[in-house]
Amino acid sequence: MSELKRRLQRAIRHDGPMSVAAFMAMCLHDREHGYYATRPGLGRDFTTAPEISQVFGELLGGWAIHEWQAMGSPAQFDLIELGPGRGAMMADMLRTARMAPDFLSAMQLRLVEASHALRAVQLEALGAHSPTHHAGLEEIPPGPAIIIANEFLDCLPVRQFVVDGDKWRERQVGFGDNEELAFGLGPPLEPMMEIGAADAVELAAGLEAVVEVVAGRLKANGGRALFIDYGPGDAHPTDTLRAFKAGAQVDPLAEPGACDMTADVDFLTLRSTAEAAGVVAFGPAPQGGFLMSLGAAQRAEQLARANPATADQIIAAVEKLVSPDDMGERFKVLCLAPDGAPAPAGFAVGGMS
Ligand SMILES: C[S@@+](CC[C@H](N)C(=O)[O-])C[C@H]1O[C@@H](n2cnc3c(N)ncnc32)[C@H](O)[C@@H]1O
Repeated sequence: MSELKRRLQRAIRHDGPMSVAAFMAMCLHDREHGYYATRPGLGRDFTTAPEISQVFGELLGGWAIHEWQAMGSPAQFDLIELGPGRGAMMADMLRTARMAPDFLSAMQLRLVEASHALRAVQLEALGAHSPTHHAGLEEIPPGPAIIIANEFLDCLPVRQFVVDGDKWRERQVGFGDNEELAFGLGPPLEPMMEIGAADAVELAAGLEAVVEVVAGRLKANGGRALFIDYGPGDAHPTDTLRAFKAGAQVDPLAEPGACDMTADVDFLTLRSTAEAAGVVAFGPAPQGGFLMSLGAAQRAEQLARANPATADQIIAAVEKLVSPDDMGERFKVLCLAPDGAPAPAGFAVGGMS
């Protein structure tokens, strides 16, 4: 049995069942035994868009340059990535940005990363750009910023509530048979929450906090924030907690700390929180259309022509990112900007916004 499982069992024996969010936070971020702290398995347990094709980061590099120019080409700005993983997306973005030396010389690269293991990998990939690491966005001094996050919000721990008879109860992690970890329901919640007709709710407690900090920055100093992640564009997620190990979906309770854990992003709440905080939201829009409008097909063909031996793989990888049957529809993009900003590249006015 893993040390983290023993520790979870001790905590539950001592304090009683814990919320799904507390369980998820320990599994991902426990300093000694958490998944991201000790054995982040990008490329092994799960694969993200920048790890599938360099075209993803290259297009986002072009996007960032376009937005910096639309912001009036500030002489100093922060390029901030939330949860950079192995740094692949940012490395591809900054290689593309060599075509805009003024952008590079105005930029201070800042990486928000919880995992010390991944911070070391990011320094290897991006050290030439002298990045600074931060535990949270609120640590970064004020200034104009382009903020970008791919598959970051889906790691935020979620609380789950379900209707049981005429009461709401919170889903918890406690003991089942033989002291094995099991999902159960907490006591009835009083007063009953007013949440309309739904019979299950999933809330990422940290989502609103992240969006409020981002919105405060954009309003005060200008900038853009681009979130790319999976989740429905027209509904609140309800019961989407999943765990992945070696590319396969596994029982989240079986090997805590040994697998990635994730939940769909609530784009509707992201959007309404941002609007309530006084910034404009473009999207959520499907990733496929966004990447195609930035030139995914043209870049794939160019790369394939230059690398005939691997042309089929290059085209297939980009297809995976944009195809509606694959990541093109399931992944969404949402951009936040200050009131009055022009529609960002990839978000047609009145179309995708
Ligand atoms: C699913 S990985 C995505 C990595 C990368 N963006 C990519 O697309 O390949 C999630 C990243 O977010 C980081 N992360 C997760 N939760 C975090 C938090 N609360 N604060 C800072 N970083 C976090 C992880 O360590 C990891 O770098």
